[in-house]
Amino acid sequence: MNRQAIDALLGKINASATSEGNPRTKTIVNRIVQDLFYTIEDLDVTPDEFWTALNYLAEAGQSGELGLLAAGLGFEHFLDVRLDEAEAKAGIEGGTPRTIEGPLYVAGAPLSEGHARLDNGNEPGGTLVMRGRVTGEDGKPLAGALVEVWHANHLGNYSYFDKSQPAFNLRRSIRADANGNYSFRSVVPVGYSVPPQGKTQQLLDQLGRHGHRPAHIHFFVSAPGHRKLTTQINIDGDPYLWDDFAFATRDGLVPAVKKAEGAEGKPYGVEGNFSLIDFDFTLLKDRANLPSAEVERIRAEA
Ligand code: DHB
Ligand code: FE
Repeated sequence: MNRQAIDALLGKINASATSEGNPRTKTIVNRIVQDLFYTIEDLDVTPDEFWTALNYLAEAGQSGELGLLAAGLGFEHFLDVRLDEAEAKAGIEGGTPRTIEGPLYVAGAPLSEGHARLDNGNEPGGTLVMRGRVTGEDGKPLAGALVEVWHANHLGNYSYFDKSQPAFNLRRSIRADANGNYSFRSVVPVGYSVPPQGKTQQLLDQLGRHGHRPAHIHFFVSAPGHRKLTTQINIDGDPYLWDDFAFATRDGLVPAVKKAEGAEGKPYGVEGNFSLIDFDFTLLKDRANLPSAEVERIRAEA
């Protein structure tokens, strides 16, 4: 079919709409259908290929992997870059870089004041202490800022999704103290891989890509009057550090992992050798006319 014939068909489909419905939805769906019609024509997509794709999406949805797919196909990172651009256009500089949330946050983690222990005490893996301060753009501490943290265990698995772990293992909400300081004790995470038998891996195989992420720790950091920060830090030295299947590694999010021991661990109840990460979070002030940094999506809740 030539473009004219395709456009005529699209026109007919769009003309079947009444003035009811949601104008924004109409605009977006009509555009996506147009782009897909063009794709099918240009690439001569066969009916078998079309139905294979549709069935694939249905199965990916049923197995709860659409969030993984969004990360793996780069959509989640793309949305981050667009938020960055909106802030840059508004003349905003600085602030801790954002990076993807991923699909594995669980709401409702226990709240600790100032310091938290994330591991259950018999968690394999090296001891990790991470600490720092939450400040505003002016460098002033944000007393009482909320630091929500979650990460994978020594097998790259997340509690809640991995039913073998206790509830909220390696997940906490930490209320920063009056000086904006937070700290936590945990174990050093290892990298995550998408489920090897899952729908995401099936597509990645077809694309000649892997489904690995470097070891990382997730954060939501929030304080009244400030844009919510969604970010991660990566564990330096991981073989996938700059080869993340979700494209989430960013400059400024790879802090040094220091070797520490002895008295340094005392404030955190740690004896012997441990890894120490110092990392400060800088939040941007709320401003009018910016797209929200608080993303609405369906999240697990326990
Ligand atoms: C995925 C998993 C993660 O742990 C993460 O941080 C981001 C994405 C995923 O499976 O898509
Ligand atoms: Fe993750």
